[in-house]
Amino acid sequence: MNHFIYRDKELYCEKVPIRKIAQKVGTPMYIYSYATLKRHFMAFNDAFKGVNRLVCFSAKANTSLAIMKLFSNLGGGLDIVSGGELYRGLKAGFSPNKIVYSGVGKRIDEIDYALKMGILMFNVESLEELETIDRRAGLLKKKAPLAIRVNPDVDPKTHPYISTGMKKNKFGINIETAMAAYKVAAKLKNIKVIGLDCHIGSQITQTGPFKDALYSLKAIIKELTDCGINIRHLDLGGGLGITYNEEEPPHPVEYAEAIKEVIGDTRLKLIFEPGRVIVGNAGIIVTKVLYRKSTTAKEFIIVDAGMNDLIRPTLYEAFHAIKPVVDSGGEEIKADIVGPICESGDFLALGRKIKKVKQGDLLAVMSSGAYGFVMSSNYCSRLKIPEVMVNGDNFQVIRKRQKYEDLTRGEIIPSFL
Ligand code: LLP
Repeated sequence: MNHFIYRDKELYCEKVPIRKIAQKVGTPMYIYSYATLKRHFMAFNDAFKGVNRLVCFSAKANTSLAIMKLFSNLGGGLDIVSGGELYRGLKAGFSPNKIVYSGVGKRIDEIDYALKMGILMFNVESLEELETIDRRAGLLKKKAPLAIRVNPDVDPKTHPYISTGMKKNKFGINIETAMAAYKVAAKLKNIKVIGLDCHIGSQITQTGPFKDALYSLKAIIKELTDCGINIRHLDLGGGLGITYNEEEPPHPVEYAEAIKEVIGDTRLKLIFEPGRVIVGNAGIIVTKVLYRKSTTAKEFIIVDAGMNDLIRPTLYEAFHAIKPVVDSGGEEIKADIVGPICESGDFLALGRKIKKVKQGDLLAVMSSGAYGFVMSSNYCSRLKIPEVMVNGDNFQVIRKRQKYEDLTRGEIIPSFL
């Protein structure tokens, strides 16, 4: 069931008219549907019913405390890539033994923090990192639980910026050298080799690349067993895509079928790191039309949300559907929907067909729940926008709009000035 729907030509989130939230909170803002977040998490988790698994929500897609708390309440784990995400995850109530830590550039302070907290597993991406973790664990008198992130050289057929499992990408340890890395790891005193990890990319809309990667991993699992290296966890990363426009990605059930078909019966505990598929279509941005103008070349609709609030259209030429919050049924025009920032790259949509709007109208930028707020910035000293969670006929601000004072917090004018 879609929880962003029109009733009487007016867009609702669950049972609340979006116009009403905008009146109270102002624009621009993010709005999330609690029911959608919950349903998406449960759909993914239930797709693997009967399989020993842990669904670790990928924090990078949306680190808002309220959202992460919801997933920790549902028994989920967390996939992190920084000390900051670990800090937020613990605040949101995740138990450390459900947290996995990936990333090519873990700093020593971050490694120490994760060791002290006792996370489930480090997904290691280079030999130098492996040795560093061993050294730090020794100093802290800990044993570091670890998986090697293998780069299987599979083309995920997605945007080049978000493909991560090909030879040319910086991620993981090359599949040809993975076994050698495992042999090194197995000999290190302060390391406990417990898993194998792989993440091939994001917004993947077919099952093929996942299966290809898994076939390669299976070969490694066999080699590991043959060498007496006994792993217990197989982390298959995230990456399942969503519908932004006309994509038809596999449903989590179809994805699960594909995984089960390749892996067969296994005694390994499967770990998943879904991000976008859980939160992407559970959130929108609501923005207001500031001005319209026509040039000889085209029509522009200038809105109060910019690339600093949602950078995906600018960065990846990503498509986000844009809908009127109140559908006045006017004629359709073709326009560039742009933000207030001083860059031509500041757009939410180019050459988009949209019903004619007027000053003050509200627009909803759909599918903004993943990689939305987390990638926002204070560029042009614009205030970060609030986030709201709707639950049935109730809604609550889960992050306040910044104030001007927030902009200069922590800044120091040196005494010689
Ligand atoms: N695990 C690892 C190791 C990852 O690097 C990522 C995403 C995920 C899990 C979650 O992937 P998902 O299920 O969300 O596809 N900013 C880009 C997406 C970058 C994805 C980076 N890694 C965007 O806006 O499209």
